[in-house]
Amino acid sequence: MKKVLAVLLAVLLVGAVFAGCSAKESGSDKLVLATSADFPPYESIGDNGEYVGIDIEVAQAIADKLGKELVVENMDFDSIISSVASGKADMGMAGLTVTDERKESVDFSNSYATGVQAIIVPEGSEIKSVDDLYAEGASYKVGVQLSTTADIYFSGDIDDGATTCTIEQYTSAQEAISSLATGKIDAVIIDNEPAKSYVAANEGLVILDSKYAEEEYAIAFAKGSALTEEVNNALNELIADGTVQQIIDKYIPAA
Ligand code: ARG
Repeated sequence: MKKVLAVLLAVLLVGAVFAGCSAKESGSDKLVLATSADFPPYESIGDNGEYVGIDIEVAQAIADKLGKELVVENMDFDSIISSVASGKADMGMAGLTVTDERKESVDFSNSYATGVQAIIVPEGSEIKSVDDLYAEGASYKVGVQLSTTADIYFSGDIDDGATTCTIEQYTSAQEAISSLATGKIDAVIIDNEPAKSYVAANEGLVILDSKYAEEEYAIAFAKGSALTEEVNNALNELIADGTVQQIIDKYIPAA
């Protein structure tokens, strides 16, 4: 009986080791994308529960080129960088801005799109421009999505004493918008295209004309990842042959 058990155990162990290997191997047939699907038109959940958006389609085109299966892992924006850095996901795309600070934990592809930080306020708000958030004694409550560049910039400005406003950090962009729509906060700083989507979907909100910051979006990889060059080459081809622009135009029709 003991012998049988020992053999069984050995078989199980060997099996486990092989399972581990094959999981790894098939892992390389997959391209695991970390994203935060609360950010139309870059990534959101479509009517049938499927992931849609510019980043999803660009990622799909890259996966097709590399002959890999795209697997989308939806998570809080705040978890994307760590999930990519730790290798849990192969790459991160989330309207993700290239910053020097992020470059300390991940590598970035070339940029495939530009973004602009915009400010959303309720219609008729006394906040008329970005300057109002920096006016002397201003005490507006400004909402941001946790760990986004809007969060990093505005939190920094509060710490530096550049603004006397306060900040509310939300795990999802949707929560920040709901909070604004229900009057709990006075403004939301978010990327311009998602701002347009959210304003279109929520009555009584407007985008201020003044821009807060301009940025570059790129794909994030674990530092030193073998995938970076492969994906970057595929991305460059898709930029060069107009595929990326076609995808962007599909979601952001020229005004
Ligand atoms: N561009 C900003 C950043 O990188 C915001 C991105 C938010 N993305 C999202 N999928 N919610 O910090």
